[in-house]
Amino acid sequence: MQPKAKISNLAFFSKHALPGRGHAVSDWLQSFSPSLAALFSQIAATLLTLVLVAPVLASFGVEIPLVADAFIQGGIAAFLGSRLGLAWWWLPINLLFSPALAATLSSGVAPSWFLAAFILLFLVYWSVFRSQVPLYLSSRKAWAAVAGLLPGKAGVRFLDLGAGLGGMLNYLDAQHPDGKFTGMEIAPLPFVLGWLRKRATGGNYSLQWGDFWPHSLADQDVVYAYLSPVPMARLWRKVCAEMPSGSRFISNTFPVPGVEPEEIVELDDFHRSRLYVYLVPARRSVEIMP
Ligand SMILES: C[S@@+](CC[C@H](N)C(=O)[O-])C[C@H]1O[C@@H](n2cnc3c(N)ncnc32)[C@H](O)[C@@H]1O
Repeated sequence: MQPKAKISNLAFFSKHALPGRGHAVSDWLQSFSPSLAALFSQIAATLLTLVLVAPVLASFGVEIPLVADAFIQGGIAAFLGSRLGLAWWWLPINLLFSPALAATLSSGVAPSWFLAAFILLFLVYWSVFRSQVPLYLSSRKAWAAVAGLLPGKAGVRFLDLGAGLGGMLNYLDAQHPDGKFTGMEIAPLPFVLGWLRKRATGGNYSLQWGDFWPHSLADQDVVYAYLSPVPMARLWRKVCAEMPSGSRFISNTFPVPGVEPEEIVELDDFHRSRLYVYLVPARRSVEIMP
């Protein structure tokens, strides 16, 4: 058992609410995912720049270069984004998006490269604008630590929620050939790469393409997730409602807010990640969180 550490409340991915604002429109806009709020900020800033800023400057006979226009648009977008509750790191993205676009358009790079890059990113990140869970991979040290946390019983059943390229499943399958390892992955390109890896290594595990939310966790001894802070509270409710009492839920890096883990394993990997290990309680002792 590792010493227990204080659980921090990671709000990195989340939006900040605007305190004391009962404004219906801003409440409605804040209910969007951050990427949609950013898109709205960009569109609104572009319209404001075109219909307000540019004509006002023109009426004073002021002519400014395109890049200055782009920075004005970016400044407005950054302001609107922050008013819509976007996390601080959206600020430079909103500010620099149009200037970067203007610079790229004048660089002469063929548009087909941008289409290709867009398709590639779309296939990798897929529904990230909704799920707020991008692709990043567990380290080898995380694979080994999870292997060490599996119960000793034969035929242990393990599910990786959002399996990425299937690295965890591949490793565990090699360590515990009698285990029943399953992974679910929603993004097409990681799924295909994971499937090719399984074929190439002759892995005896199951990798399924699809959304894990409708998938039952009832049959699992251990469920592993490496997601983001955003879905953790909802996922814990699903774990408690579906997993057998006494089974384990392991979350890499992102703790369940307000729930004390049974154990925290500190990994000496690149990100100095932590594994939060939760013992699934008996149904009646679960306190339903709002
Ligand atoms: C941070 S990666 C972790 C990959 C892998 N578990 C690992 O540890 O290396 C999270 C993955 O979850 C996938 N994902 C996010 N939401 C999902 C969902 N609802 N159903 C299935 N996969 C999902 C993402 O596409 C992404 O590939």
